[in-house]
Amino acid sequence: MASGTGSNAAAILSAVDRGDLQAHVTTIISNRSDAGVIDIAAQHGVPSHVVPRKDFDSRNAQQRRMLELLQMTQTEFVALAGFSSILKPEIVTAYPNQILNIHPSLLPAFAGGMAPQPQAEALKAGVKVSGCTVHLVTNAIDAGPIVAQAPVPVLPDDTVDSLSKRILEQEHQLYPMVLQWFADGRTHISDGQVHVGPEENQVIWPKSEH
Ligand code: GRF
Repeated sequence: MASGTGSNAAAILSAVDRGDLQAHVTTIISNRSDAGVIDIAAQHGVPSHVVPRKDFDSRNAQQRRMLELLQMTQTEFVALAGFSSILKPEIVTAYPNQILNIHPSLLPAFAGGMAPQPQAEALKAGVKVSGCTVHLVTNAIDAGPIVAQAPVPVLPDDTVDSLSKRILEQEHQLYPMVLQWFADGRTHISDGQVHVGPEENQVIWPKSEH
């Protein structure tokens, strides 16, 4: 489910095409007809569905249609990749611990906003490290169990764009990797924390430039 450029969706679909991610992408659902992700779906031969708010009386009705599409396409697992609406409890409940989101900060810092707000907040706060987080979606916004994180440095001359670009590069590594853990059934959740088989490190550290 995505609303924007779709670079994360592209990274996921490319990982599937390469065989690095053993998954079948059933559908891409967007709430925006002008989202770049629609073209990306077409390039990869994946059917997409646009479900705009204006076609429905309420957000609940809109999301009921999205849930219907997920069920009709026999979707077992959902990846939010820049999806601009907050999921209603009906969808969250239908997919317990089966919905992931990617957020452009090291949660719980800078939770809540859509990109590029978290990146702008990180710059404003003067943090020296930011990054991205993949987490399970619950009804608490950006506060579901963290699955994996990738930190990146914040450089003195960074702009929102340059920081966002550095974070996005990590997002594109992190998201397909985490999805493969779920495809392999290698994650387990206890006490609200996600654990992955011992050989997996749930952090992607930046490559040393030295
Ligand atoms: C990313 O920054 C992601 O962390 C956030 O929305 C943005 C989506 O970018 N949730 P894209 O559409 O995948 O390029």
